[in-house]
Amino acid sequence: MRVYLETFGCQMNELDSELVRGQLLSLGHEFVAHPDDAQVVLFNTCSVREHAEQKVYSRLGLAGVRKKQGEQLIVGVIGCMAERDGVDLFKRYPQVDLMCGPGELDRLPLLIDNAARADAADRSERIALAGNKSRRTATLQAAEDNLEILDLSRAFEPVANDAKSRSAYVRITRGCNKFCTYCVVPHTRGAEVHRPPAHIVEECKRLVDAGVVEITLLGQTINHYRYTHGTALTVDGHEAPQVGPGLSVFRQPPAAGSRTTSFADLLHRIHEEVPSLQRLRFVTSYPRDFGDDILQVMRDSPRICQYLHVPAQSGSDRMLKAMNRGYTVAEYLEFIDRVTTTLPDCTIGGDIIVGFCGETDEDFEQTCDLIRKVPYKNNFIFKYSPRPGTVAFDRLPDDVPDSVKRARNNALLALQNAVSARAHERWVGRSVPVFVEDIRDRSSSTQVPSGHVGLSVAGKLPTASSQVVSRRQLIGRTPGDLIVAIPAPDGAETLLGSVQPARIVGSKPLLLDGLLSAS
Ligand code: SAH
Ligand code: SF4
Ligand code: F3S
Repeated sequence: MRVYLETFGCQMNELDSELVRGQLLSLGHEFVAHPDDAQVVLFNTCSVREHAEQKVYSRLGLAGVRKKQGEQLIVGVIGCMAERDGVDLFKRYPQVDLMCGPGELDRLPLLIDNAARADAADRSERIALAGNKSRRTATLQAAEDNLEILDLSRAFEPVANDAKSRSAYVRITRGCNKFCTYCVVPHTRGAEVHRPPAHIVEECKRLVDAGVVEITLLGQTINHYRYTHGTALTVDGHEAPQVGPGLSVFRQPPAAGSRTTSFADLLHRIHEEVPSLQRLRFVTSYPRDFGDDILQVMRDSPRICQYLHVPAQSGSDRMLKAMNRGYTVAEYLEFIDRVTTTLPDCTIGGDIIVGFCGETDEDFEQTCDLIRKVPYKNNFIFKYSPRPGTVAFDRLPDDVPDSVKRARNNALLALQNAVSARAHERWVGRSVPVFVEDIRDRSSSTQVPSGHVGLSVAGKLPTASSQVVSRRQLIGRTPGDLIVAIPAPDGAETLLGSVQPARIVGSKPLLLDGLLSAS
């Protein structure tokens, strides 16, 4: 059948969509670029904020109109929103034919087949949701993990000659055990389950053999990766995915005789066993239990990117407590101190929630202070959005008016802009490898402002007049995830998806200007 798949939400969802696509292609389905040409329309959804869900509801509205006009169309809601909304969604949106949670995606082809059958009356054959059984039976589920098969059966065809396919995600941990009070993720993705290191290394190798240049490891709290060998085996004796340990494990040395792979071990293994991988990165780091062992592996492994996305969420201890984040501002700052001491060039990004339940002007001022203290390259700033099913939704009043949330959001954006400007400035005059991702016409670009090309630093660097001034720009990223704009030379297309040395000649708050170094 002709399938249209649209993805919302985080990198986990992008990876899930890639795996779903591979799975459906291998079964003979084809993909189309526009929903109007499709027989099956799938939305891979996100529930993290209300706004993310509204986008999907409006897409469902459009699909509903088509069905009312008599079109034969299968509409599927997959991903986190399916899991959060549950069967309730069928009642409110009868145009929905199938629902599949993120933990059940291996069953999606069957659901599509069932929905396509003329006698597709039985709704239960078109639903695959973990519901609240996921946590109770997590151990059992991990051992029999069919989802693992989805990751393992990933298509490893040589990548097309474009930048997007040369950068790949690899999941190391599913789910989350942290239960921050505002967050739906533990409810939609289920318990934390760690994949066996051998599976992860093998997947990285095969991706690199197929032409991948950059791998980003994914986990909600990635530094809490830990695999204890010899405890979770499949019936045929292979290592199976494993439910994550409690947090106390990170506060004591491993038990005598236990053989574990920590996150630091895993990073080291991938770096050593996949030598042709040019860039290894990971998201998202949790500010607690981030050991020096990880920082040391990052320092000693030249192909691991010195970049941390490590959200603080707030700069107020009172708010951090209400959020159940499990660290104080002082502990967060102590961690940042260890990062900048061991890795002086490491770039740091984060997320902040403004207007969480009970946040006063004073709490907010403390968040501003935190942003002034940490050399963040960027922060994603979100207005608190109450999510049904979370502890905050049930127990804490959403008492900060939207106008105040908006004002705090804007004030933080302005402050972050100034902090970002400083974090970018310090790269001017240095040479950096840039992973080239895109070519843009400078005049048509509104997001990336035209740079200070030609600005000479201390008179030592080549200026634009020594290079051909181009209207087209290469857009790429440094190992520290800073965006670089470079005047595009003739034949720039051949550079897409490769890593090129560049010299940084100027900076803006969220952009570096570079020139290709003569290689
Ligand atoms: N596991 C990651 C975050 C995943 S969700 C971590 O712990 O850092 C991505 C971001 O969405 C979070 O960092 C948080 O800033 C934001 N977020 C999550 N729930 C939210 C909510 N209910 N309202 C507003 N922002 C939220
Ligand atoms: Fe959500 Fe907290 Fe888990 Fe991150 S650590 S996914 S914010 S519950
Ligand atoms: Fe959204 Fe689910 Fe990711 S809620 S942020 S798609 S884990």
